[in-house]
Amino acid sequence: MRLPAVAGGELCIGPHSRRETGKARADLSHQDTSRIFALAAPQPNGHGIGSQVGDRLSQKDPDAPPEPLEWGYSLANVREILLGCLDAVGARSVLEIGAFRGELTVALLDWASTTGATITALDPVPPGDLLALAKARPELELIEETSHDVLARLDSLPQAIVIDGDHNYYTLSEELRLVAERVSGNEWPLLIFHDVCWPHARRDTYYAPERVPEEHRQPLAHNVGLAPGEPGVAPLGLPFIWAAAREGGPENGTLTAIEDFMRSRAGLRLAVVPAFFGLGLIWHPEAPGGEAVGEAIAPFDQNAVLARLEAHRVAHLVAGQARTRELEALKIRSARQEAALRKLPDSRAFALAERLSALRRGGEPYFTRAEIREALE
Ligand SMILES: C[S@@+](CC[C@H](N)C(=O)[O-])C[C@H]1O[C@@H](n2cnc3c(N)ncnc32)[C@H](O)[C@@H]1O
Repeated sequence: MRLPAVAGGELCIGPHSRRETGKARADLSHQDTSRIFALAAPQPNGHGIGSQVGDRLSQKDPDAPPEPLEWGYSLANVREILLGCLDAVGARSVLEIGAFRGELTVALLDWASTTGATITALDPVPPGDLLALAKARPELELIEETSHDVLARLDSLPQAIVIDGDHNYYTLSEELRLVAERVSGNEWPLLIFHDVCWPHARRDTYYAPERVPEEHRQPLAHNVGLAPGEPGVAPLGLPFIWAAAREGGPENGTLTAIEDFMRSRAGLRLAVVPAFFGLGLIWHPEAPGGEAVGEAIAPFDQNAVLARLEAHRVAHLVAGQARTRELEALKIRSARQEAALRKLPDSRAFALAERLSALRRGGEPYFTRAEIREALE
């Protein structure tokens, strides 16, 4: 497929019932930059992301596990499963919606270099690393637009579509509607989703809330933390710039959008791999390669061990985030205290007070400049 180029937790633990909002949940992703960078490496917030990606793409061992405190936001973390499914359907054309820094895109390009498939990536706000990747790998078609704009003008569909853009009910439902309108018969493309587990499964998040009509937006929370098992917001949770103020309920979250979509379309299959915030797949068993995809994904679909691992991973991520924030607050407090204390040893008034205290206490002052200097060392 060549697209017209344009310038520039339900932690997947247990069944995906949206009524189970009180349960521990996991799977996540992105936003706020400053606070996230404080925690670790880059996250896909889409807002002023720095440029460590070039490093990551050029220097990092592609097979290395994610850094312990990174969020593990990229689908590249599940690439063996994802590429296995592309192989199963023999995909000759792949569209990645929401490419961010191109970490999955690189994996797709490398895979395509052995299969001859075409890779198109789209992102309305491509970070520098993605632009650099498009320059370095001319076989990549990069489109700087939103998914809705691009899907709406497609005459035909690619054989596989990775949907990893703005994780909210409206955006995803529209993406699915636009795809469905272009499907003929059972010739469904393989649909691959990211972030179908906690925190996005049952809670909208927004890169650009203004792109979602107000009547389709959840009540918004701005610059908030999210934590598994907390349906509201959690001050020390994973930071998000824009998120639904509450988890759960109708028309809220990625998995909710997928399930609602599936309800109106007979014959489609859904798999959810509860790892790295959740990999989702929709396919039609009678589409080319449909049976093979079903077989390839079966061992991972709702895999209980993966779900447990993901629950642990997310719990540690959230705990790490909380510790980082607490540490930051302590550092600020400590810096203030130090600044105040530093004035004392040089203060004549304080020296006088020390002498007075010594006089009143038989030569043993209650405080000394020496002990303050020592405390400041
Ligand atoms: C989670 S990141 C993608 C990560 C990438 N697919 C990977 O696996 O490494 C989401 C990206 O979607 C982009 N995005 C946000 N809204 C979008 C939209 N309406 N259409 C397409 N992409 C969008 C953001 O700019 C961001 O770069």
